[in-house]
Amino acid sequence: MPRNTSSTPDKSGRWIVSKFGGPDVLKWDSWDPFAETLPADHVIVRIITAGIAGTDNIQRVGGYPDPRCSKPGFTLGYDFIGEVVALGSEASKRNPLSVGDRVTAMDGIGAHATHIILPAAELIRVEKTDDPVKFCAIPLNYSTAFGMLKRAVTNLVPGSSILIGSASGGVGTAVAELVNAFKMDLKMIGTCSPSKFDYIKSLGVIPVDRRAPDLVNQVRALTGGEGVDVAYDAVGSDESIQKSLQATKKDVGQVIVIGAMSEIAVDGSGVRQQEADLHTLLQQRLQSRVAFWSVISNYKVAQPKLWHGDLQRVFEKVRSGELSPTIAKLFRLRDAVKAHETLISGTDVKGKMLFIVDEDLATQHGL
Ligand SMILES: NC(=O)c1ccc[n+]([C@@H]2O[C@H](COP(=O)([O-])OP(=O)(O)OC[C@H]3O[C@@H](n4cnc5c(N)ncnc54)[C@H](OP(=O)(O)O)[C@@H]3O)[C@@H](O)[C@H]2O)c1
Repeated sequence: MPRNTSSTPDKSGRWIVSKFGGPDVLKWDSWDPFAETLPADHVIVRIITAGIAGTDNIQRVGGYPDPRCSKPGFTLGYDFIGEVVALGSEASKRNPLSVGDRVTAMDGIGAHATHIILPAAELIRVEKTDDPVKFCAIPLNYSTAFGMLKRAVTNLVPGSSILIGSASGGVGTAVAELVNAFKMDLKMIGTCSPSKFDYIKSLGVIPVDRRAPDLVNQVRALTGGEGVDVAYDAVGSDESIQKSLQATKKDVGQVIVIGAMSEIAVDGSGVRQQEADLHTLLQQRLQSRVAFWSVISNYKVAQPKLWHGDLQRVFEKVRSGELSPTIAKLFRLRDAVKAHETLISGTDVKGKMLFIVDEDLATQHGL
């Protein structure tokens, strides 16, 4: 077995959320995927790189609207690049894969591990020549961003304007980079902490301090007093949604809410409200011109062919060199607690963070 970057480099395993809470709840579990009975239509994949995302933060504290995360005992990790190492007896009938193929998937959980077992139908082939670091950034962040720009709304014609909430993060960065790569010709204004102004400027985004009391007036001033066509909101509080709405064009501007970061305690130890899951809370805050949009329910599940085709379009942009996802930080798999502390602090989050799970690749990247 190739060596991995976990705390047990010659053995397989996975991180488990042992209870809901801060980074310390993550516990390493020595798990042998080959000891389990492999369902006929499933595949075992050795993970090479795995995505770290804001969503991990919400899943770790509880309240994330996926029944697989409703109780502790699951493994985080939304997406990955890996290598097929074993196929169930019927798997290649579902998806023509062979041992040694490079694959990715966006299954929502399970990738912060040395291996993952998935239905063959969930896997998407990538090329062996595709950079496993750059390509690992794509499934969650760039397909969410592509959907936000092209599928959640239909009014973004050239010359339109957008407000990217949390522009420095993985999804915000992806929105800006896709606008540039697909030459969408949009005016981009983004909110973030002032320490990241230079970073988002480098993406072609006009920065506004996310804590500025006059945030709405600043956005209106930057759009000739009119407001933006679309505001994207990943914070999801009543206050944030109202500000996003006021920053849009009168009567026609739209707000697309994608997250509820406001509901996580600042120290990452839990959720602020226990009564309802985050999806229910957000639904209560929606109103005219404010919609919630999810890459899973509104896109991957509702329109699988469209989602798959769009993902391939993003892959092609990376292969052609027109898009190069910004990688904020790389971690060894053994450093999951540190990775979560970095997510919670947010200071170093400028683009996508990843685990490099394959030891040889980690060495190549100086980890
Ligand atoms: N609906 C969907 O389909 C979908 C898909 C993917 C992700 N999401 C959601 O989108 C959100 C962002 O994900 P991500 O992966 O981009 O996160 P990320 O990479 O961790 O970036 C988050 C950034 O947002 C800012 N931030 C953090 N907490 C905040 C708060 N309470 N209020 C305002 N800003 C805050 C911080 O930057 P600054 O300090 O610079 O502002 C932080 O670095 C998450 O809630 C995630 O669950 C939704």
